[in-house]
Amino acid sequence: MATVYVDNKPYPMNPEENLLHGCLSQGLNLPYFCWHPALGSVGACRQCAVKLFKDEHDPHGKIVMSCMTPAAEGTRISIADEEAAQFRAGVIEGLMLNHPHDCPVCDEGGECHLQDMTVMTGHDYRRYEFDKRTFRNQNLGPLVNHEANRCIQCYRCVRYYRDYAGGRDLNAFASRNTVFFGRHEDGVLENEFSGNLVEICPTGVFTDKTLKHHYSRKWDQQFAPSVCVHCALGCNIDAGERYGTLRRIVNRYNHEVNGYFLCDRGRFGYEFVNSEQRLRQPLLNGKPISVAEARRHLEDRAAGGSVIGIGSPRASLEANFALRTLVGAERFFSGMADDQTALAGRLIKMLRGGPTRTPTLREIEESDAVFILGEDVTSVAPRMALALRQSVRQQPMEIARRAHIPLWMDHGVRDALQDSKGPLFIATPYPTRLDEVATATFRGAPDDLARLGFAVAHALNPEAPSAQDFPLIAEMIASALKTAKKPLVISGMSCSSQAVMEAAANVAMAAHAALSLTAPECNTVGAAMIGGAPLSAAFEAVRKGSADTVIILENDLYRRAPAAEVDAFLASAKHVIVLDHLANPTTEKAELGLPAGTFAESDGTFISSEGRAQRFFQAFAPQNEVLASWRWLKPDRWQNLDDVLAALSRALPDLAPAAYAAPSAAFRISGAKIPRSPHRESGRTATLVNINISEPKTPEDPDSALSFSMEGTPDKPPAALIPFFWSPGWNSIQATNTYQEEPGGPLRGGDAGVRMFEPAAPNGQGWFSAIPPAFQPREGEWLLVPMYHFIGSEELSPAARGLRELATKAHVAVNCTDLAEGTDVEVSCASGTFRLPVRLRADLPPGVACLSAGIAPLTGVTLPAWGKIGSPK
Ligand code: SF4
Ligand code: SF4
Ligand code: FES
Repeated sequence: MATVYVDNKPYPMNPEENLLHGCLSQGLNLPYFCWHPALGSVGACRQCAVKLFKDEHDPHGKIVMSCMTPAAEGTRISIADEEAAQFRAGVIEGLMLNHPHDCPVCDEGGECHLQDMTVMTGHDYRRYEFDKRTFRNQNLGPLVNHEANRCIQCYRCVRYYRDYAGGRDLNAFASRNTVFFGRHEDGVLENEFSGNLVEICPTGVFTDKTLKHHYSRKWDQQFAPSVCVHCALGCNIDAGERYGTLRRIVNRYNHEVNGYFLCDRGRFGYEFVNSEQRLRQPLLNGKPISVAEARRHLEDRAAGGSVIGIGSPRASLEANFALRTLVGAERFFSGMADDQTALAGRLIKMLRGGPTRTPTLREIEESDAVFILGEDVTSVAPRMALALRQSVRQQPMEIARRAHIPLWMDHGVRDALQDSKGPLFIATPYPTRLDEVATATFRGAPDDLARLGFAVAHALNPEAPSAQDFPLIAEMIASALKTAKKPLVISGMSCSSQAVMEAAANVAMAAHAALSLTAPECNTVGAAMIGGAPLSAAFEAVRKGSADTVIILENDLYRRAPAAEVDAFLASAKHVIVLDHLANPTTEKAELGLPAGTFAESDGTFISSEGRAQRFFQAFAPQNEVLASWRWLKPDRWQNLDDVLAALSRALPDLAPAAYAAPSAAFRISGAKIPRSPHRESGRTATLVNINISEPKTPEDPDSALSFSMEGTPDKPPAALIPFFWSPGWNSIQATNTYQEEPGGPLRGGDAGVRMFEPAAPNGQGWFSAIPPAFQPREGEWLLVPMYHFIGSEELSPAARGLRELATKAHVAVNCTDLAEGTDVEVSCASGTFRLPVRLRADLPPGVACLSAGIAPLTGVTLPAWGKIGSPK
């Protein structure tokens, strides 16, 4: 650490960083706009000015930008210096010349970095009397709102969108002294991470358009720390509620997981919670009944003795475990199709036993050579794709290091690096969004992808089993992984191929690389750890007559198995009980339907594909007759979530660490709970004043250390319990910096979550050796493989209003000159016959057809499968 003197007081600062970073690390208030911990410094806004002195005898000093000056040993600066303070106030005054005075109607008002910095500099009087520059705003689609007049030209948006996230359709357009930040014309922002503009922009140019539909100020919302449900990465979120509806999702910083950013699916998918498809009342044969009647009915059926339970990879550990406890371990089924159950089991084995350690998203970002085998990462695990876009910069960073350019000096680094990219190899059945930053790509059927993997492993270590006749690219990949300092292999369950996953494991073993395996749903890993036979066994149990009642937990079986099989299963069960939050084809078949709480109305734990157990908490107490699934199913002896977790730890000791994913309900800070609501100027009593002026009692929360009010400790909570980021003087999301050990670093007290697996003996599994034969196209048939879409393939987000507009329509993609683009074809396979539009892709492997995964009518289709494509009858 270097000692830096700020206003004559010594402070320890990281000499690898700049002075602004150092000052903020020390809790000093120094205003800034263009700097961001994830983006580095460009010195564009001039807001972070300080006075720099040569030594303690220098009476004059000079103004410098703290974000552009290294925190070198012995540096002496002043923040309080009158000239520096005037400089900063002058900058704000300049920025405010054109900034509209529309804070009261601006969505950013009350959590605006510009407001905070204006107050911090003391600028409070407008001298400028002339016309302001004005722009026309653009329609950027259903997710992000644009109000260009509020721009202060800090350039953060384009630096984030283009340089960091790889977007192309947002830019700075300038004419003389006018600079406009937007698209070249109206249109939906194309990048999958566009929603982060809402938090990156320090003022109200880019705001959350979905929030506009039910706007509420930050201080009027009630927040809870939560975990995204739209893929298995487990990005940390804060969910904001008011009057019983979920209003928005904001990023909850986790240094090891999502850092500062979410994908658009995670940020905007929340609206399914408010969907008209919600089930809010217990229904018996379609007729509303009370909670007490529903419970009685459930208990009677469960006591019947001939009941089975079907769990779910999108339900919490606690809900799955409660169902398992209700029906008995032998009569509990995983809720996943056979192939998915087998693959998830294999994934758990690899995470637990090696071959190598599974990396966090931060470690993925720091990898310097990556091989992706069989995964469309942007569609399946989006935030990982954003991390990989940073990983390709790791090797070229050496250029900057050699030139002695500090890595935080963003423009200097980018000038030095130009377009240099480190090694990233992608082998998938169809082209993916990440291909644009790849060193080389390989297209093939799943078996050929596996063979490539085996060949790479063999090229790295001749002891690894060999696939013969493999192309040059295997050598290229092997050589890149071999020479890397932090090699990484990514694979997963997307191809539904055990051979692909095993080939990836061999590569990781041979390269001594980290291995990251994607999983399809938010709790696939947790559900697999709880166990249970696959769906076909549940179907068989009913068919054979060993069960007549089935309880289905948060699981639309029509997404898991062909419709005919599910129809037959549900028809042969005498009693069907379904717990879920959205109406779906399975809930329609329920004799008894129980309305389950979504993630926003429940507490629970998910285990991410990293193997990280993370707790989510209720943003609000459920309305109507909605209950968290585990509350519907739990035995009377479990009073609260801690009781469930204690029972879980006893019954399934492998899952015991999950109990420590967050502090228990008994946790207090100085005897106080943690408030879910920020301190509101209007006060709690005023919130419902139009309905009732008496002060209603706030709901009790027996399950967590959070209170349903603004009352509680003013101190900062542990990471797993942070409902919102706020510090005195820091009302915007930039307050995150005040919760970290240093900006961009770990949260104080450690980041949220518990890693469930740390392989004790890396490489302990030995080589996998089941190498499949090379793929042979068939005459008159196609190998149908799943193709994932960023919006549409995942189950819940298409029920969100904004995302629904952007969801991809189901189609089949083929490389074929006999078909015409856009025409309908009939695709038939063992799972059924489907009429679909065709998209022609010359870059697909011959003999392989890609079907939109998870999108109606293709839900429940078992892939890969051989099938025929013909004209519709
Ligand atoms: S739009 Fe926002 S982020 Fe972009 S330059 Fe303007 S103020 Fe900065
Ligand atoms: S990457 Fe996955 S977990 Fe993260 S925000 Fe997106 S959908 Fe949610
Ligand atoms: S933050 Fe330093 S110049 Fe913008």
